[in-house]
Amino acid sequence: ALADQIRIIEVGPRDGLQNEKKSIPVATKIELVRRLAGAGLQTIEAGSFSHPKWVPQMAASDEVLAHVLRNPPSSPAPITYQWLLPNSRGLDNFFKVMNSFDKPEGHGYPTPPPSPQQEAEPTLEQPQSSVETDANVRNGQKHEVSIFLAATESFSKRNTNCSIQESLDRFAPLMSSSRAQGIPVRAYISVALGCPFEGPDTDPHVVADLAVKLLEMGADEISVADTTGMGTAPRTGKLLRTLSEAGVRNEDLALHFHDTFGQALLNTMVSLDHGIRTFDSAVGGLGGCPYSPGATGNVATEDLVYMLHSLGAKTRVDLEECARIGEWITGEIGKGNASSAGRGTLAR
Ligand code: HMG
Ligand code: MG
Repeated sequence: ALADQIRIIEVGPRDGLQNEKKSIPVATKIELVRRLAGAGLQTIEAGSFSHPKWVPQMAASDEVLAHVLRNPPSSPAPITYQWLLPNSRGLDNFFKVMNSFDKPEGHGYPTPPPSPQQEAEPTLEQPQSSVETDANVRNGQKHEVSIFLAATESFSKRNTNCSIQESLDRFAPLMSSSRAQGIPVRAYISVALGCPFEGPDTDPHVVADLAVKLLEMGADEISVADTTGMGTAPRTGKLLRTLSEAGVRNEDLALHFHDTFGQALLNTMVSLDHGIRTFDSAVGGLGGCPYSPGATGNVATEDLVYMLHSLGAKTRVDLEECARIGEWITGEIGKGNASSAGRGTLAR
């Protein structure tokens, strides 16, 4: 049943903000992440460790990471944070912050390992659950990284200054290293339904081939991205069938729709019918890729949640709170609120 299977990856703090020209205070970014967690969004892509010259807006992501490590937001369920990175240098910078938190003398590790006596006799004051055993868990919150490559050579060159094969070669050691240190890796395939430089007809077999390779390399999930929003219902269906024929399981896939041409929810419906259950979205419909001219925001989280609830899905997301966050953050950055469901909810 659809009801309990949906996962939403909130990418607003990363994809939503990365393209903004005006510098956004780090306190605003931290507040956005905090509010999203409070609204019931359980997986949040909160920043990126790209080269600050290439994506200046994400330069303070280390501060956002350091903040959430020390101040886990109050939320009903544990939050999973995802951190985008383009290469091993980004992974090193991510681990620098993660590992500084591990050291008790550095930032006050919150749950020191229990003494042998406590281990033998767990008491209510020292619940076993406070002992963090998962390598990617800090202060009760999970951390994962996401990497990205492209399905066309032109976009690969513009976005990451290398060919598709070079990105695969670059990510192989990165993935092994991250997973060896207990951090799961999500992989985006950009321009899967159209490229700003090569047009709308990205070859679905190239996407499927990349998905298979990334999964073989150890990716925990593939996010198939319609970077330009050029995807249509027929081509989304064809891409999903091609992925299935190549042996890629629906449970290993997420869909990442940008809404430039207003087709994101329709394409989401096509994906739901195909059996996809994980979707990326950004509150307020924020977003765009600095290296995809003309592309606008991700599908708005409010729009996605409104539709999913109408279909009987339980997302645990508070739509009204989400609508308030969308209105607040688009106001903060001086943009119109791009979410129809958000504006509609607030006008009720
Ligand atoms: P490059 O210039 O080819 O890098 O950029 P390089 O490897 O030649 O290194 C040059 C210098 O940069 C070196 O320093 C490196 O250490 C340094 P030097 O030795 O000369 O002093 N450097 C870094 N510094 C900090 N952080 C780093 C880093 N890497 C190298 N991570 C690179 C190649 C990939 C780094 C660059 O092209 C880049 O950062 N690209 C990122 C672009 C990006 O973030 N795009 C937006 C996100 S993707 C997206 O939005 C799509 C998505 O939403 C899905 C969709 O919708 O399609 C995910
Ligand atoms: Mg994107």
